[in-house]
Amino acid sequence: MKHFAIFMLLCLPVCSAYPLNGAAKGEDPNVDFAQQYLKNYYNLGKDEKQVYRRKDNDPVVKKIQEMQKFLGLEVTGKLDSNTLEVIRKSRCGLPDVGQFNTFPGTPKWRKNDLTYRIVNYTQDLPRDAVDSSIKKALKIWEEVTPLTFSRIYEGEADIMISFAVREHGDFYPFDGPGMSLAHAYPPGPGFYGDVHFDDDEKWTEDASGTNLFLVAAHELGHSLGLFHSTDPKALMYPLYNSFTDLARFRLSQDDVNGIQFLYGPPPASPADPKVPTEASPLESGTPPASCDPALSFDAVSTLRGEILFFKGRYLWRKLQWKSKPELHLISAFWPFLPSDLDAAYEVKSMDTVFIFKGNQFWAVRGNDLQAGYPRSIHTLGFPPTIKKIDAAVSDKENKKTYFFVGDKYWRFDEKRLSMEQGFPRFIADDFPGVDGKVDAVLQMFGFFYFFSGSAQFEFDPNARMVTHIFKSNSWLLCA
Ligand SMILES: *[C@@H]1O[C@H](CO)[C@@H](O)[C@H](O)[C@H]1NC(C)=O
Ligand SMILES: [Zn+2]
Repeated sequence: MKHFAIFMLLCLPVCSAYPLNGAAKGEDPNVDFAQQYLKNYYNLGKDEKQVYRRKDNDPVVKKIQEMQKFLGLEVTGKLDSNTLEVIRKSRCGLPDVGQFNTFPGTPKWRKNDLTYRIVNYTQDLPRDAVDSSIKKALKIWEEVTPLTFSRIYEGEADIMISFAVREHGDFYPFDGPGMSLAHAYPPGPGFYGDVHFDDDEKWTEDASGTNLFLVAAHELGHSLGLFHSTDPKALMYPLYNSFTDLARFRLSQDDVNGIQFLYGPPPASPADPKVPTEASPLESGTPPASCDPALSFDAVSTLRGEILFFKGRYLWRKLQWKSKPELHLISAFWPFLPSDLDAAYEVKSMDTVFIFKGNQFWAVRGNDLQAGYPRSIHTLGFPPTIKKIDAAVSDKENKKTYFFVGDKYWRFDEKRLSMEQGFPRFIADDFPGVDGKVDAVLQMFGFFYFFSGSAQFEFDPNARMVTHIFKSNSWLLCA
């Protein structure tokens, strides 16, 4: 039998971090700069700078960690030299987290044939150089989707492209040379879809200044509905990469996955080899392929610092954030469990994982089944009409467990051990942007990850929006 070790995670106070308030406020320009950065790009609240308590649960420290995680830095929670260097880099003016998506749901164009218009020009480049940079930038998205772009010269286009400095009629003034280079709005009517370039940059065709093609390609990704990616190789990574080899530029797999999730592949491309989905081959013993792009999960849970992804008779066990997952039979750990599970979640304070199938659930601690299980799901307070649940996740911050069933969810209070009043509620009302049936949910890094078929939605509970869409198997490190 395989065993799960117990790891003790010691929460050490962050002692050497810069104090973000008190004596140093206003005196250390790095601290002020970092706070502004977190407000602009990480949705740090205006009221979150008062008392800096030097604890891991301080909102500013949490935001620094969130930023470090997003940008692929070492997650120290401190304004270390690496972090300070990165936040001084030129970047896209849109936030990485929060406040971007004012429409609920996943914004995308409801048509494939879009228009664009170049409203005005920069003095830095000849007009035809601007025209061709924009055209080339549109082409990289055109090549991997069914979308087409036609240029118009007057009137309202879907995508209006302009150059402006400082305050320019929206709520996002530019900031002079460097830092914020451009911004764009997600799909929609009016100013939605539009792209603004900061004309205080020196726009160039090569890499001697700020390369217009590269920034345009990134911004147009936003115009089409993509958010920022945490993948540093992706075009949609928020920082401007002046080292990009322009001659050999191509979209990363992450960019292609994102845009094809919204619009699908181009019609002319040879059909993807489709994996037959009728009879599940898993029952017959074939292990699931972790890199099948159509891979979905039955259930996902944490366990003592690991993550478990359940599929058929198998589970992937991911020991650490960066490590390759291991595939095992579920029965190797828990011989008493059935296959094809519905849901699983960990209650960390009890060191227990609850696992669901049909109208029953099991409680396990390490490898051991707890006495009195399996039990009926109705002992949790579900009405008799509920025959099974789709997914569950327990929020360790507020000690609530969320159960997802169809288009609704219930919330269970882990302190009072009872289902809360006022539920079920519609998933769409409280988790806007999460589309489709929920197969599994994982809480990590302050986000909820909703798995729905082969798609995965990263949901920021504070901003109440989907911040990223991945393939479900992104955790299995296939790329
Ligand atoms: C270009 O058009 C935009 C939007 O109409 C405007 O804000 C900006 O000032 C214009 N820029 C120039 C250089 O005329
Ligand atoms: Zn951007």
